[in-house]
Amino acid sequence: MSHLIAPSVLSADFTRLGEDIEMINQSEADWFHIDVMDGVFVPNISFGMPVLKAIKSMSKKPLDVHLMIVQPDRYIQDFKDNGADILTVHYEACTHLHRTLQAIRQAGMKAGVSLNPHTPVDVLIDVLDEIDLVLIMSVNPGFGGQKFISRTFDKIRRISQLRDEYDKSFQIEVDGGVNEGNVKSLIDCGADVLVAGNAVFGASNPSNMISKLKNIK
Ligand code: DX5
Ligand code: ZN
Repeated sequence: MSHLIAPSVLSADFTRLGEDIEMINQSEADWFHIDVMDGVFVPNISFGMPVLKAIKSMSKKPLDVHLMIVQPDRYIQDFKDNGADILTVHYEACTHLHRTLQAIRQAGMKAGVSLNPHTPVDVLIDVLDEIDLVLIMSVNPGFGGQKFISRTFDKIRRISQLRDEYDKSFQIEVDGGVNEGNVKSLIDCGADVLVAGNAVFGASNPSNMISKLKNIK
């Protein structure tokens, strides 16, 4: 299957968010990537439930919600109620990750786990049964527009190898500094879903850029 493109709404123009959502609806993008930041887990605050709900009301594509918050268990049902289809928590923010992942699935969403650049992928071996998606951060979470960390390639190869070894089918998503120049290498390493914020919204024609990223083979 071809890779999926998930434009990151964090880089949209919030003074005309509706137009940007409509652009994504009409484009070749597969998912909306929604970054929720609490100012504690990461040094930035983005947006929360009212914005998620507003996006859901217009969106024609799945909402891929990336939580950069501490104690995400507190809000699992709220994220479901406000429209999340895939809910990704950070490994580094979950003391009882196994329980959290089960709760996400029980609430009716796909369960994702994200790893910071310093976290090796092997820490997920004992929860692979509970995971629908692994989100490899290729920048330190908190901000769009940062430089891709090239060590990520090895991490994607490794998680892809573990997926084969343990006969699993979770998706591998990469987030941070993705652009026209690294998409092919990321797919070749085993990535299935590519998040792109600045590459899309910083382009003169965002919809064309989504097509470009989608059609790289
Ligand atoms: C960073 C966020 C990313 C970010 C990606 O913490 O998780 O989703 O929006 O933006 P770019 O593609 O600009 O690195
Ligand atoms: Zn993200």
